[in-house]
Amino acid sequence: MSNALPQDVVPVSAPDNSEPLLKVSGLSRNYGAVRALDGLSFEVPEGTITGMIGPNGCGKTTSVNCITGFDTPSGGTVEIEGQPINELSPDGVARAGIMRTFQAIRVFDRFSVLENAMIGMQSFDGLSVWDTVLRNRRYRQVERNTRQRAVELLETVGLKDKLREPAGNLSYGQKKLLALAGILMSAPKLIILDEPVAGVNPTLTHEIAATLRMLNEKGITFLVIEHNIQFVMNLSDRIIVMDRGRCLASGSPSEVQADSRVLDAYLGGVGDG
Ligand SMILES: Nc1ncnc2c1ncn2[C@@H]1O[C@H](COP(=O)(O)OP(=O)(O)OP(=O)(O)O)[C@@H](O)[C@H]1O
Ligand SMILES: [Mg+2]
Repeated sequence: MSNALPQDVVPVSAPDNSEPLLKVSGLSRNYGAVRALDGLSFEVPEGTITGMIGPNGCGKTTSVNCITGFDTPSGGTVEIEGQPINELSPDGVARAGIMRTFQAIRVFDRFSVLENAMIGMQSFDGLSVWDTVLRNRRYRQVERNTRQRAVELLETVGLKDKLREPAGNLSYGQKKLLALAGILMSAPKLIILDEPVAGVNPTLTHEIAATLRMLNEKGITFLVIEHNIQFVMNLSDRIIVMDRGRCLASGSPSEVQADSRVLDAYLGGVGDG
């Protein structure tokens, strides 16, 4: 893994630190009789790595879907730097500076690693359909810049020696790093990762942790959902504990680990399952 990071991967941060970067207030989402989110409120302060944990089915992915415009909450608000983003489409949320990964990996196996990373830039490059169809000078210029940036970011996540390989040849963990490089293309302020190390071997898990720390030091804020408790406790400044569609507890890793309600939620989950 390289420490090189293109300058403009660093997001332009808000000078006003009084607002949290992300504020979720009273979010609810019902699926028929299932209350997937039931008044969920939490904050992600700028510059932090905030972890989110909670038993299976407690609403973690639903909350990410509602924050990023992939799902519509039944109630509540989502704000980024004090601005409501409830009504935005996934593209609009991405333009507001929030990018996410998916619990199920999304890469194009037949495309090269480099091509996959470049696709991440597609909706941000400002090219018109005509630019693309005609492959004019503007198109070629943007394409050159995009390619250069993709190469730099693939180096950042440790995939520089795989540029020309079909993404299908990558290991599961390497595909997760590729997905991360893809979303870094648009220089997001906040990255939400849904189970970044589930099914990833221990060596790569360490590499992913180191990459996330390095990106955080460069100014990117993270919300990391993870069942690997050791990983998320070691990585995060703050932890949000979800249970049954709500925030059960939040605080430093040591505070939440000492909270008996948190243990109860997990043991309750095992018993219920
Ligand atoms: N599209 C949907 N239609 C119906 N029910 C859904 C839908 N999506 C989620 N649910 C339900 O909402 C609840 C919350 O699911 P969600 O996927 O958000 O949980 P999670 O905390 O991400 O779980 P896991 O840790 O297993 O990923 C579950 O009861 C789930 O079955
Ligand atoms: Mg989930």
